[in-house]
Amino acid sequence: MRAVLCHAFGPPESLTLEDVDAPVPKPGEVLVDVHAAALNFPDVLMIEGKYQSQPPFPFAPGGELSGTVAALGEGVTDLQLGQAVFGGVGSGAFVEQAAIAANRLRVKPDSMTFAQAAGISTTYGTSYHALKQRAALQPGETLLVLGAAGGVGLAAVELGKAMGARVIAAASNDEKLAVARAAGADELINYADGELKDKVKALTDGKGADVIYDPVGGDLFDQCMRCINWNGRVLVIGFTGGYIPKVPINLILLKGCQVVGVFYGSFSAREPAVNEENFGQVLRWFETGTLKPLVGARYPMEEYAAALRCLSERRAIGKVVLEIRP
Ligand SMILES: NC(=O)c1ccc[n+]([C@@H]2O[C@H](COP(=O)([O-])OP(=O)(O)OC[C@H]3O[C@@H](n4cnc5c(N)ncnc54)[C@H](OP(=O)(O)O)[C@@H]3O)[C@@H](O)[C@H]2O)c1
Repeated sequence: MRAVLCHAFGPPESLTLEDVDAPVPKPGEVLVDVHAAALNFPDVLMIEGKYQSQPPFPFAPGGELSGTVAALGEGVTDLQLGQAVFGGVGSGAFVEQAAIAANRLRVKPDSMTFAQAAGISTTYGTSYHALKQRAALQPGETLLVLGAAGGVGLAAVELGKAMGARVIAAASNDEKLAVARAAGADELINYADGELKDKVKALTDGKGADVIYDPVGGDLFDQCMRCINWNGRVLVIGFTGGYIPKVPINLILLKGCQVVGVFYGSFSAREPAVNEENFGQVLRWFETGTLKPLVGARYPMEEYAAALRCLSERRAIGKVVLEIRP
């Protein structure tokens, strides 16, 4: 089978597409014929050695996938041969076949394509956990989402609306904002000119947003701390903006606000039952059409470097997917 492998940290072009032996599922695992692998920004960080956890070399990048069950390891009774499945795997999705712990997989809804299903675990899982458990977002509250057309950002826009919030989508260009509007955003802010704080205050009677979802960090984080409402919650999601900002703790005091960390990988490992409950709700919202996962770009397996560049060069809209079995 073919696999995209990382033998040493470097740019996307340093990865190689190779023939390797197909894995054999261990007890509790399932062999999956991969149809689609979805990309997340951590894939970019992982191949460059900038992510918080690193698999040993050589590893295949790719945090999530969809496909069909090709073989069952010993003891797996809740999945069947040929069943369509999807799941988050951390890394290892850029392959034609993957051996995956059965408890990481869910049955793919019939209404979803393989490309859509490949990309829903991390984005919706992260954003729902962030808004529900970490922010306790309430109906009628104002939610500001940065990077609102990216993977986790667009999911946060849709989920914020599903939870009854007024959603302000913020992004770096009008094309991205149009996508956020189509996903249900009530208000739009283009922050390309660097002015975020004043625009948020203008849309909130000078009060600021109740909850801010920030996957960007960098300079924008400082502005978030200045446009958070009294009793507000600033969600620390990620740092695509390039650097990890420092928090001026006097602002936390003055605003009576909270700065709240979100680490979905750790949450799903520590609190699997709550994660399962969350995902049950997310799947119900998919069934009713409340959530509509957007695949913004598809690449054939051979074009893995171009797919990764789409994220690293800030061009991704919704999910970027590698089609392994188109
Ligand atoms: N905490 C967690 O548990 C968790 C889980 C999953 C992902 N994350 C993090 O969430 C962040 C977003 O991940 P994602 O997969 O949604 O990524 P994505 O689809 O590439 O979206 C990232 C967004 O960041 C913005 N951005 C600002 N500066 C950028 C730059 N220099 N390069 C690329 N994008 C830039 C872009 O929006 P604009 O152009 O509109 O600014 C883009 O839409 C990452 O930092 C990731 O590590 C965290």
